[in-house]
Amino acid sequence: MPPLKPRICLVTGSSGLVGSEVCVYFASRGCVVHGVDNNQRAVFFGPAGDTRWNQQRLERTLKGFHHHATDIRDRTAITDLVRTIRPGLIVHAAAQPSHDRAAAIPFDDFETNAVGTLNLLEAARSFCIESPFVFMSTNKVYGDRPNTIPMKELPTRWDYDAPAFAEGIPETCSIDQSMHSLFGASKVAADVLVQEYGRYFGMPVCCLRGGCLTGPQHSGVELHGFLSYLVKCNIESREYKVFGYKGKQVRDNIHAWDVATFIDAFWTSPRIAAVYNIGGGKANSCSILEAFELVESLTGRPQIHTYIDEARRGDHICYYSDLRKIRAHYPAWTITRTLPETIREIVDNWHERIVAS
Ligand SMILES: NC(=O)c1ccc[n+]([C@@H]2O[C@H](COP(=O)([O-])OP(=O)(O)OC[C@H]3O[C@@H](n4cnc5c(N)ncnc54)[C@H](O)[C@@H]3O)[C@@H](O)[C@H]2O)c1
Repeated sequence: MPPLKPRICLVTGSSGLVGSEVCVYFASRGCVVHGVDNNQRAVFFGPAGDTRWNQQRLERTLKGFHHHATDIRDRTAITDLVRTIRPGLIVHAAAQPSHDRAAAIPFDDFETNAVGTLNLLEAARSFCIESPFVFMSTNKVYGDRPNTIPMKELPTRWDYDAPAFAEGIPETCSIDQSMHSLFGASKVAADVLVQEYGRYFGMPVCCLRGGCLTGPQHSGVELHGFLSYLVKCNIESREYKVFGYKGKQVRDNIHAWDVATFIDAFWTSPRIAAVYNIGGGKANSCSILEAFELVESLTGRPQIHTYIDEARRGDHICYYSDLRKIRAHYPAWTITRTLPETIREIVDNWHERIVAS
């Protein structure tokens, strides 16, 4: 077999939020980057989910970037691609990413999230078994288990009322016997498969269980991309719908760039079957009501919204990631962008995109 090409990265979901940021990050460090994305987000969410603007941006601006409009469900095509390029790193960020959308498209959801991941893992095992493989998992693998923690209601948010969770949700939280949504279930299947390729075959694989991953490159839609969509609604004076929990439900937010820098740290010092929660942590968490306030302070525009007194099924009341494990294993890795800085970037980018369209 020809030797591995250590400075070659394969990134799936390359036109999406996380994938595109990862492409930019590694291209800026002199890597050749192969992106895989068939713009399926537009199929899942309609024209507002179209990611071609982002694909074209990468093709226009990145040296050494190669786009492949391949579907990760196409096992033969994925196997051929991995055999041909034999990447030194695989970042798997392609997905059907919506909790709520999955119920309407269960086969598309499972075949993309679970079977697509298996296709990539098998190709990696066959042709680049030593290359680190990072899978973008999700905090939805914990289902609604975090909702069983005692909560206290504060003026603008819910918070845990249990000292054991003062730092947030750890990786030891059970993923079993709770409501996940079909999306959460297909991601659990993929998450466990990824871990198994680590434990059983000794591969350097990592599951990153994300809180809210965000940033300016999201094609935010109502069903996915909370902050991106919220900012878009604010700028376009569209109504934003709040579902349940009085708008006090909490999410921790991390800029996709900081996810990319972690992936670099993992590539440098990989581990077998690693599992980490990754998010902004409590310091970068906000409720929907608090997000409204932050965005309004940056745009000067009121957030038009309605309240629907019914929570999304399986939705977290309060979730922020306990970052102690990831920080202990990778002490040099840090979060570089605060929540207000990230929202500022999202606001600026939507202004540019709306003007350009
Ligand atoms: N954004 C978040 O808040 C968040 C939170 C937790 C986990 N994650 C996970 O991180 C990953 C990336 O999320 P994102 O926010 O960048 O999503 P995204 O929708 O912006 O990007 C995913 C990309 O994958 C592509 N894609 C989907 N199905 C495909 C297929 N069958 N073949 C090829 N390409 C396909 C889409 O076109 C899209 O561009 C996903 O696995 C998601 O579940 C995201």
